[in-house]
Amino acid sequence: MMGVVVVGSANMDVVARVPRIPGPGETLLARSFSRGGGGKGANQAVAAARAGGVETAFVGALGSDGDGQSLRESLTGSGVDMSVVAQSGEPTGTALISVADDGENAIVVVGGANADFTALDARQQQVIGAADVLLAQLEIDADVVLAAAQARREGAVFVLNAAPSQPLSEAMWAQLDVLVVNEHEAADLAVALGAPDRELDGAVDLLAGRVGSLVVTLGGEGSLVVEGGERTRVPAVPVTPVDTTGAGDTFVGVLGARLALGDSLVEAARWGSVAAALAVQRPGAQDGVPSAAEVRTAYTSGQN
Ligand code: RIB
Ligand code: NA
Repeated sequence: MMGVVVVGSANMDVVARVPRIPGPGETLLARSFSRGGGGKGANQAVAAARAGGVETAFVGALGSDGDGQSLRESLTGSGVDMSVVAQSGEPTGTALISVADDGENAIVVVGGANADFTALDARQQQVIGAADVLLAQLEIDADVVLAAAQARREGAVFVLNAAPSQPLSEAMWAQLDVLVVNEHEAADLAVALGAPDRELDGAVDLLAGRVGSLVVTLGGEGSLVVEGGERTRVPAVPVTPVDTTGAGDTFVGVLGARLALGDSLVEAARWGSVAAALAVQRPGAQDGVPSAAEVRTAYTSGQN
């Protein structure tokens, strides 16, 4: 058995700290430069593994280059099983990231090996078939995500973080157990389903009518969990953000791990929120993912 299997992207994040996000045609001088592990899939795998107590495997593709090797080593070091990750002839994915003084970011992803990941092999299907919780995002081919969902065993929970934003096929909607989106992705999906405007309340109703369980992340406002017609607000932990890159991935990865441990969706979202609040206070995507001990301490102090 494998508690959590994450199917998705892995990138080397190339990060410039800038006073603010530049506008079109503008040149800005960066305050500093760094590189670190990224990619929505790999970030979520690191978050699930560091949550503690849950076996976690990553299914994705890396290039045969230095970035691929360093990501393979760092994810392994975080406790992620990398044994079925494909070796691509394309370079490892790269994300060009600007992080502003207020912690906001702008990201351009160059897919590379992630874009070359177009089918699951037999070993990958086998690992997916052993998952309790399958996590996926939309930074790889949606057909691979769909094939992964179809390869899960009966009773395994398929959690789709529909990011970056794109419409979902009918076949994908039919597979979903839990949909996790931010406000913008929620509005985009609602409009694609025929909503007249981008208003959040209407979008939530529309999406909740299509999927058994829905989580809408609201940044500093926490998240909204909708299950069986019931809406529950999960508050955010108030913090001053340093770098929000990967905070949503930390939320999803920890949520997946907690579901694998048997938590309810609301309870899992509470743990995800606490972990994400720690993540935004640190630079980097994978570098910012907190340890199980840190999350437990923050969770317990929040309960008092
Ligand atoms: O969600 C954050 C991630 O998006 C970054 O790590 C970057 O690699 C892009 O995939
Ligand atoms: Na961070």
